[in-house]
Amino acid sequence: MGLTLTEKILNPHVVEGRPERGERVGIRIDQTLTQDATGTMTYLQFEAIGVERVRTELSVSYVDHNMIQEDFKNPDDHRYLMDVAKKYGIVFSPPGNGICHQLHVERFAVPGRTLLGSDSHTPTSGGVGMLAIGAGGMDVALAMAGEPFYVNYPRIVKVHLTGRLGPFVSAKDVILEVLRRIGVKGGVGKVLEYCGPGVETLSVPERATMANMGAETGATSSIFPSDQVTRRWLAAQGREEAFVPLEADPDGVYDQEIEIDLSRVEPLVALPHQPDNVVPVREVAGMEIQQVMFGSCTNSSLRDLESVAHILGDGPAHPEVDAGVSPGSRQVLHHIAASGALERILSAGVRILEVSCGACIGMGFAPPTEGVSLRTINRNFLGRCGHKTGKVCLVSPETAAASAVEGRLTDPRDFAQRRGLKPFVFVQPERFHVDDRRFVFPPEDGSSIQIRRGPNIAPLPAMEPLGEMVCGLVLLKVGDDITTDHIMPAGAKVLPLRSNVPAISKHVFQVVDGTFPERALASGGGFVVGGANYGQGSSREHAALAPRYLGVKAVLVKSFARIHLANLVNFGILPLVFQDPADYDRIDQGDRLELATDEVRAGSVFRVTDVTKGIQVPCTTPVGEEDLNVIMAGGRLNYVKARR
Ligand code: F3S
Repeated sequence: MGLTLTEKILNPHVVEGRPERGERVGIRIDQTLTQDATGTMTYLQFEAIGVERVRTELSVSYVDHNMIQEDFKNPDDHRYLMDVAKKYGIVFSPPGNGICHQLHVERFAVPGRTLLGSDSHTPTSGGVGMLAIGAGGMDVALAMAGEPFYVNYPRIVKVHLTGRLGPFVSAKDVILEVLRRIGVKGGVGKVLEYCGPGVETLSVPERATMANMGAETGATSSIFPSDQVTRRWLAAQGREEAFVPLEADPDGVYDQEIEIDLSRVEPLVALPHQPDNVVPVREVAGMEIQQVMFGSCTNSSLRDLESVAHILGDGPAHPEVDAGVSPGSRQVLHHIAASGALERILSAGVRILEVSCGACIGMGFAPPTEGVSLRTINRNFLGRCGHKTGKVCLVSPETAAASAVEGRLTDPRDFAQRRGLKPFVFVQPERFHVDDRRFVFPPEDGSSIQIRRGPNIAPLPAMEPLGEMVCGLVLLKVGDDITTDHIMPAGAKVLPLRSNVPAISKHVFQVVDGTFPERALASGGGFVVGGANYGQGSSREHAALAPRYLGVKAVLVKSFARIHLANLVNFGILPLVFQDPADYDRIDQGDRLELATDEVRAGSVFRVTDVTKGIQVPCTTPVGEEDLNVIMAGGRLNYVKARR
């Protein structure tokens, strides 16, 4: 029996467990990446593990999320990240060098290897045939220390592509089509594996866009074959030696199949506030817009910005539209400057933002109250643009550019037809402008490096073991699809506090209920009750660590998103699932719950007592016995240190 591409990469990396679908396996990680918003905590944890040097083939620490320097906090964090990188053998990418995923695909991603990143869009590197997975910072710290990464062996979805994209339709529309079909939970526990004759019509940046946003389906990863398009990309990056041809066997066995004829894909838009709230642009065309943002790790490649410049050349942007662009890397910036694309973009009235994530997480580029912001980013959760009333719509670079000119949501095909605009054709440079001088490569021996820590970098709080009884109030009851942005918002006020748990914990659930932190501390902790897909979105481990600091001991929901579930385990919060989802309605905020921890067993049903209502609620836990041991120990760090 033949193998899928996922199996071909994953199986030789399995170091614990049976490489069979659905089985819990430990996999060897070849590369890691972090970004600054998750990185400081990751490296504080890595230091606490106590190894002298990273044990991966390559680890890269990017600074791309929060580069605002209005006081000492962010610069201190950036300096800390650089010092840690030098000391422990990690490549450091300073502010301004590029967005982690764009830059990783350009400079480091290798077909056939495994990558674990403390960012949920790490699967972007699947665009060059790498098996790339997003995880919490603790898991990445452990991978750097040479520990396996534990994950359920994924189910594998064959996404069979035929045909070729039409003019002014691009990869973003294809992944929005995938989201339209399978939704934000449709990829949970799965790898989206692309194949078929349509694959060779897509450039590496287009593949990377689709792999990037596979994260929005909840998928563990997304992957493309490594073919001649990949080889040409790597050669143009001066890295042809990294190329290996890789594809699935024709008789590989899949759990699910999705068929997409690229020639039938049309421009799509995800309306607020979920990435799967997708409709054709033509159905909502004419909607007034106030802002357009080009960029993010999803659509900031040279291909994307050249396409934007092509359309904006017919501009300028509408005077009432606030438009900004964040190029994905210095390399992209160099090329658009050299080709004249940047000139066309700026002449159209688009503001140049930093080469960074910034605007994607609502920093420095928020829309007005109730304003509609068209963005080429990957998620449009409530509050992600910087405030709760902003209405973020996700679109392709082509739709964003045409709409920026018109001042209304516009189908780029109609725009082109009205104006006689020729289709854009991306011609990849024979040789990209490769300039790695801004990377800080670590010295052979980093033992003499002193790590400088600013006053904002607080030590990791100690975590107590869970104890025999978990008792407390339901501190908060929330509905379905609660995201990590709801639990632990990002933004300019919060991100500088990422290495200071007591300070950042004051923002927990701020979007939902601003009194949560005070109430949690005053009542000595307790439970959170939620609906389905709890914790979807980013890999932000502060969404588990900060609630734990406030005393949250257990989260009882209908279902969990994968990365957040792993983060709850890592920080010693007991994840519980209603055996009967209808029981969600029987528990109210403010009820007192009790649970004896010795009754909690993997794979069995036990009861949580609602003392206030005098009822017992049957529950299970979605984690295994080893993870329960981790939780009982007060989290992964306590557990690993005790074992070592
Ligand atoms: Fe950055 Fe936004 Fe991507 S925060 S890593 S550009 S999802």
